[in-house]
Amino acid sequence: MSDVKLVAKPGEVQFAKGLEGVIARETTKSYVDGKNGKLYYHGIPIEELAENSSFEEVFFLLMYDRLPTEGEFDYFKSRMVQYREIQPEVYEYIRRASGRYNDTPMSVLRTAVSMLASFDDSAEEDSLPAHEREAIKITSRMATITAAIGRARRGLEPIHPRPDLSHAANFLYMLFGEEPDPFYARVMDVILILHADHGCNASTFATIVVKSTLSDMYSSIVAGIAALKGPLHGGANQRALRMLREIGEPEKAEEWVLNALAKKRRIMGFGHRVYKAYDPRARILHKYAVEMTQREDADPQLRKYLQMAEIIERVMIERVGKKGIFPNVDFYSGVVMSSMGIDDELFTPIFATSRVAGWTAHALEQRLDNRIFRPRFVYVGPAEDHWIPIEERKKPEQEPTPLKPLERMV
Ligand code: CMC
Repeated sequence: MSDVKLVAKPGEVQFAKGLEGVIARETTKSYVDGKNGKLYYHGIPIEELAENSSFEEVFFLLMYDRLPTEGEFDYFKSRMVQYREIQPEVYEYIRRASGRYNDTPMSVLRTAVSMLASFDDSAEEDSLPAHEREAIKITSRMATITAAIGRARRGLEPIHPRPDLSHAANFLYMLFGEEPDPFYARVMDVILILHADHGCNASTFATIVVKSTLSDMYSSIVAGIAALKGPLHGGANQRALRMLREIGEPEKAEEWVLNALAKKRRIMGFGHRVYKAYDPRARILHKYAVEMTQREDADPQLRKYLQMAEIIERVMIERVGKKGIFPNVDFYSGVVMSSMGIDDELFTPIFATSRVAGWTAHALEQRLDNRIFRPRFVYVGPAEDHWIPIEERKKPEQEPTPLKPLERMV
């Protein structure tokens, strides 16, 4: 690093924009084989986990790098259940914030998780047992918060967690107020399994950067939520379904996508920094989308959405597949969640409710072998300039950046 030029003219020094290809640390948690369209959690293919495992077991696997024995798993699940309930103050905040125009579900989730720290006596304790406990607490409670947000957005009172249901079934119970159909509970479990971890994605990186400063677990997870909120990351699932709603009819899908591509628009739910093949999570979700829309009680509108999605997928693969652009996890997840009666605006909080398992596991991994993240920038500003008294300064004819000081601040 010492011989790299760090003061240069713009474009003079090569760097990895968006840190593409940069290796941030070693991990034992998950591996994304982007070339072959494979994903493994600690060596186990995602397809096997989606078929046989549960969110609780995947969380254990990510935390401890192995599958639990029966006794361990019972104990781990009981710890998760023990921590499900959240404080009345957090419910109250969710209720108040959800009625306000500017508070999106992701911002309410971000603040509510931050609030949890106020009620945790060991939040500031820098010890492994405290971090482990917080990892389980936060992961368990995020489902309660997300369900309460979903209800508050509909003007409904929260439903308290039930200890006898699985994490996924309890989530649906807290959201809808009735014990879910076992098939729906299984589908929710699969959604949570599929989103739990994904290598060095933006939100996991944000989480470990904060953890690397020896900040607390809550702050680290809040950073993860903040990063996931963006439309290029977790926010894409909601936008993918919005796109299908905008198109409206399957007959219009092909023309719509060709038009969008001609205008260089980004098609939400497609493309990935690492996958240059079909995202295996999208393949699993497509299978469930087909199954769900074939159920007798399926909304006919959702059958149309699936049809449109399949047309868009075909056109995209024909047109831009050679560039390595294929459906990602966000493309079919919206159709699946919508089929279960879940509101669009809850898709990203549900993604977070799952990804928190990966965030906490990576935060623990970071803490066990820590070095603060401190990359460099290449400085391309003036090599040397001087301060001048304010009365001698003139407004430049052209602003050095696209920002126009104060002009837009009305
Ligand atoms: N639709 C159309 N063209 C695309 C898309 C897309 N969704 N994604 C990438 N491209 C094109 C892009 O225009 C560029 O083309 P060209 O080389 O001709 O200029 C090329 O592919 C490379 O794009 P990039 O922006 O350099 O790729 P990136 O690795 O920086 O971005 C991405 C990855 C996921 C942000 C991007 O593919 C994207 O914006 N996708 C849509 C949003 C989305 O679905 N996000 C969810 C990602 S999966 C869930 C998660 O892990 O968060």
